[in-house]
Amino acid sequence: MSSLLIERSGPVVRVTLNRPEVRNAFNEAVIAELSAWAENVTQDGSPTGSGQRARVAVLAGAGKAFCAGADLTWMSRMTAYSHEENLRDAGALAAMFNALDSLPLPLIGRVQGAALGGGTGLAAVCDIVVAAEDATFGFTEAKLGILPAVISPFAVQKIGISAARELFLTAARFSAARAKEIGLVHAVVPEADLDAAIDAYVRELVTSAPGAITGAKHLIAAVAGRIPAEVAELTAQTIARHRVSAEGQDGMRAFLEKRKAGWIE
Ligand code: COA
Repeated sequence: MSSLLIERSGPVVRVTLNRPEVRNAFNEAVIAELSAWAENVTQDGSPTGSGQRARVAVLAGAGKAFCAGADLTWMSRMTAYSHEENLRDAGALAAMFNALDSLPLPLIGRVQGAALGGGTGLAAVCDIVVAAEDATFGFTEAKLGILPAVISPFAVQKIGISAARELFLTAARFSAARAKEIGLVHAVVPEADLDAAIDAYVRELVTSAPGAITGAKHLIAAVAGRIPAEVAELTAQTIARHRVSAEGQDGMRAFLEKRKAGWIE
């Protein structure tokens, strides 16, 4: 059985971590499969809006929990590895998080049960996270004698330095409500309503232009933490390019001509 399920339904590709017996903890196999999927989406380039390519990706976990983070059986074996082998493994993990973080499609996280350690890290690289009311999060690594190193750049960007200092150090588990308060989660709903909440986001996302979405994701990454004057040239170049693009021209004309833009099915 594959450790990842990939299903397509209309404009949505759903990627499900599929090791429910270990609460979807990730090992080498999951890292390789998830990286291959995410890198392949990246290599496909920006979606064209032709209706052929997926427009939204959903990251989910099978069974009781979204993801219990790194597989502790696998990680505890690392002591038998050399420093170089440990570096190679950690590098593969970082590459997986990077590929997910820079996916050209909007990535929606569907969180039920626990999202701990790297599971909270996965939530951090999603654009939108919908969580069940009783979901629990936590940067639990320090409780295990380690630390959330690979996920830290993504987590600190999402939740800010203050919450990271509290939550990385206490390694305390926290609620979906708290996760929403610190910007890790965007909607909290009863578990039975997770898919309906995701569908509502999908309906919005498919009426936004695919190239504009990909461009906005790059733009956010490029301007984050920079002072406006430093990025003025970049932002001007970006809008100048999108205004004259086929998609930009179609979108603006569609509004003026009171018709649907080409990317709307
Ligand atoms: N790595 C490897 N195995 C894990 C795991 C992990 N991160 N998390 C859970 N498992 C395994 C358990 O060892 C158990 O295996 P067993 O059936 O052989 O005993 C199985 O998954 C089910 O776990 P269990 O704790 O019985 O399930 P639960 O539903 O009561 O609780 C969690 C689920 C996720 C809340 C709990 O397992 C947990 O806290 N896991 C540790 C998460 C963590 O701190 N991750 C950070 C890693 S850096």
